Order: sequence, then C-alpha cells, then structure tokens
Amino acid sequence: MLLKHTFSFYFFVVLPGLLLVALFLTILWLRRHYTALRKRNDKYIYVAFFHPYCNAGGGGERVLWCAIEALQSKYSLIKIVVYTGDIDASPDKILLKAKQRFNIQLSQVEFKYLRKRRWVEASKYPLFTLLGQSMGSVILGYEALKSFVPDIYIDTMGYAFTLPLFSFLAGCRVVSYVHYPIITRDMIKAVKSRQMSYTNRKCIARNPFFTSAKLIYYRLFALMYQFVGRFSNIVMVNSSWTEDHINSLWKCPMLTYKVYPPCETSDLQNIPIATSSIEKIKIVSISQFRKEKNHPLQLKIMYQLRQLVSEEMWEMIELVLIGSTRNEIDEAWVKDMQDLAKHFSIENNVTFKINVSYNELKKELEEGLIGIHTMHNEHFGIGIVECMAAGLIMIAHKSGGPMLDIIEESDTSRNGFLASDEDEYAGNIAIILGLPDTARHKIREAARSSTNRFSTEEFKINFLRAVEPLFTKKKNS
Ligand SMILES: *[C@@H]1O[C@H](CO)[C@@H](O)[C@H](O)[C@H]1NC(C)=O
Ligand SMILES: *[C@@H]1O[C@H](CO)[C@@H](O)[C@H](O)[C@H]1NC(C)=O
Ligand SMILES: *[C@@H]1O[C@H](CO)[C@@H](O)[C@H](O)[C@H]1NC(C)=O
Repeated sequence: MLLKHTFSFYFFVVLPGLLLVALFLTILWLRRHYTALRKRNDKYIYVAFFHPYCNAGGGGERVLWCAIEALQSKYSLIKIVVYTGDIDASPDKILLKAKQRFNIQLSQVEFKYLRKRRWVEASKYPLFTLLGQSMGSVILGYEALKSFVPDIYIDTMGYAFTLPLFSFLAGCRVVSYVHYPIITRDMIKAVKSRQMSYTNRKCIARNPFFTSAKLIYYRLFALMYQFVGRFSNIVMVNSSWTEDHINSLWKCPMLTYKVYPPCETSDLQNIPIATSSIEKIKIVSISQFRKEKNHPLQLKIMYQLRQLVSEEMWEMIELVLIGSTRNEIDEAWVKDMQDLAKHFSIENNVTFKINVSYNELKKELEEGLIGIHTMHNEHFGIGIVECMAAGLIMIAHKSGGPMLDIIEESDTSRNGFLASDEDEYAGNIAIILGLPDTARHKIREAARSSTNRFSTEEFKINFLRAVEPLFTKKKNS
C-alpha cells in the first residue's frame, strides 16, 4: 500500500515537476546561448529575411528583393541574410533569377540554406493542416536560428510561429510582412454556419459534433496566432483587406502599417493614350479563366449594353477577354463562355485571347478604352492596376480590394467606376461613352497617375519608413 502510494507520488508529482524544471532550464540556457550569439563586436547590423521559397519568382518574391534593395540603398553598415529552402539553387542562380524576372540587381546577399522545408508543406498534414504547418514552421525556424542569429528578423512569407523563436530566444527585433492571414474570421464563420468550402469538408459541415470540435480548434488556433503575432515589433500588411483581418486578430494597430507590394507598371504607363475621338470601342477584361472571376457577368453586361446603345454604336463595340488557362477545367470554362456568348447573340463582338504574350497584352491595352473586372471580393486585383496604368477606364466590382484600395469615385478624384450587377456595369459603360472627350481623357489620366501608389518607389519609401525605428535603436541593446 505504502509503496504504491509512493510510486504514484513519484510518477504523478515529482517526475512532471522535474520535467518542467528541466524544460524551464533548457529554455533559459537556449536564451542565454542565442542572445550571446547575437552580440557581435562589429559595426554591422545583420538583417535576416525568412523566405523559404525565395526562388519561386512570384509576387511575394518581388516584395523580398525590393525590400532588400531598399535597405541596401539606405544603410551602408548592414549585412543581408536570406534563409531559403531552395537547396538546389546556388546564390548566383537565385540572384540571376531576381534580375531576369524582376530586373532587380542585387549583390552581397548571403544565403543560409534550410534542409527541413518539407516540414511546412501542406501535403504533409492531411488533417489539422493549419496547426501542422505552423508547428512545422517552428522546426524550420529553429533550423534558421541555429544557422545564423541576426539583429533584425523579417518574416516575408507569413510564418508567424517563427517570430517568438527569434524574439524571445535571441532577443532579435522582429518584423512581419503579411500577405494573407493564416486564419480569418470568414473561415471561422464558414464553419459556424456549416458551409461547405475548400477549408471545410462535407463530412464536417454535415456533422454537428465535428462542427463544434472544428470551431474550438479554429478558435484556439486564432488565439495562438494572436499570441505569436504579437511578438512583432513592426507589422506590415499588403492591403486594406489584410489590414482589417490582422487588426482584428493581432490587435496592435499602432504597430501595423499598410505597405502595398510593388507592382511593375512603369512600362504600361508609357503606352500613349489616344486623344482622338473613338471609332472603335474596345473593352478589355484581364483575368484568368476561372469560375470565381465571373465571366458570365461580363457577357451579360455586353447583352445589357446592346439594349442601351444605338445600333451604329454597337457595331463599334468589342469585348476582349484576355486570360490564361491552367488545365482542362479552365479550357472547358472557356468553351462554356463561348457558348454563352452565342446564346446571347453577341459572339461577333466578343473575342477570347488565351495565353497571350506580354507584347500582345500590351497591344490590346493600347487599343483599349474601358476595362471590366467582375470578381466578387477580390483581395486586391493586380489586373485592375495594370489596366489603369495603361490608361483604361476601369469598371470593377463594388467589393473587396477594388473598392477599398484601388477605385476612387468622388467627382474631383474619379479614377474609375464601381458596379455590382450587369445593369450598373452597362450603365457605367454607356455613361463613359457619352462623356465629352476631355472628361474621358481626364479620367484616363487620373487612372494612370493613381497607380503610382502601387509603384516600386512607393513600396520602398513606405517599407523604409516602417522599419526605420528598428535601425535607430542602439545596437546590442
Ligand atoms: C496580398 O497578398 C495576397 C496573397 O498573396 C494576394 O491575394 C493579394 O492580391 C495581395 N494584395 C496586394 C495588394 O497585392
Ligand atoms: C495555356 O497554357 C497552359 C499552361 O501553360 C496550357 O496547359 C494550355 O493548354 C494553354 N492553352 C492554350 C489554349 O494554348
Ligand atoms: C459587332 O457585331 C456586328 C454584328 O452583330 C458586326 O457587324 C460588327 O462588326 C461587330 N463589331 C466589332 C467591333 O467586332
């Protein structure tokens, strides 16, 4: 009896106690170790970017390279390090790709290669993907910390769970650039209302027990996301949509800055805007051939427009749908749209251009007068910005990024139009066609100059302004 008691006492009280103490001491030791490694006796400030997919060549990578270029041009006594998982690409190859893809010429960037990138891949976690990937990022982040301890740590890929490692264990100053929150209120709402979606499977939506279990999981995860996110000394968000979500999750609006990612539009801004009055009216739509872009609405707009304009005017109107297809599903979608155009008897005035080259795209934009974009709740809409840079008058959907970030409708600063159904779109097109030349030209110029807000220059200015406080603090403090 006594022995049994003693055993359970040791097993349930003493052992866990000892483990806790050991864990606590390990963390203290790690903290001393990494903080000491950070304190170097030289005059440089070491800035490290966590970007495991730095060789991907997408919009996120443009942010990375532009940020590095901006820092190097402003500060001379800094050293840049990039943690990457692209172990098959040499530093020269990565920098060459940045040059070819984005025309950004960089030198003096040091790469630290991470071998544990598989830990953050979604396919590794069929269940509890969010949690799995986040814990995986801690493993990857720890590998990064072990390979190098910087003074300033910048996460440009949204791996928020790596922030405490660098902030707490090594005392680094920490910055996050958020393109997209890992979890959003909308995702939680979707589970709550038992909607089916790509983040919510059918079997979960149908079963009330699974639904409440998933709701608890999401809520707990959102709390953890908030806990780690708040280790940031500075937060940057890429749009008003992201800002909204991050403010409601992390609740540190005083440290949060909206810094639009750089869009390369200077080439499009050089396209001449025709000033003569119109003989041919080209309406351009740039969007991938995917369902959510809502091409049927574009065809309905044309159908509606035909009722609003004279027959001579209609003869001059053409809608050009430009976009890429990725697979058979997208190609079937194009076929459906062609059939729908026939159904509306507008097929002579609708042209499809699939997988066009950049030069062909430029030519279409040069001939275009009006642009339409119809996706509901687009987070931003780079295609809209490109059309506006080329001097087109955009009519975009009255929701999401186009409404919050891009289109201005007040009389004095109008740079485009917003609409929510085919009547409004067609009505706006008729209004534009009825405007005097000078008024139309004024909007085209306003559209073009308003895209400067999304330029590379503007990105650099705002990025540097946001991180400046971290560089003025004394080193080693
Ligand atoms: C912000 O990032 C998200 C995710 O990559 C993207 O969908 C959105 O278009 C971006 N916003 C801007 C302003 O580029
Ligand atoms: C467009 O490009 C994609 C991928 O590059 C390809 O799969 C598709 O077949 C192309 N479509 C056409 C119509 O050329
Ligand atoms: C529009 O369609 C009509 C026939 O319905 C055709 O005569 C006209 O040339 C077309 N306009 C353009 C710009 O393609």
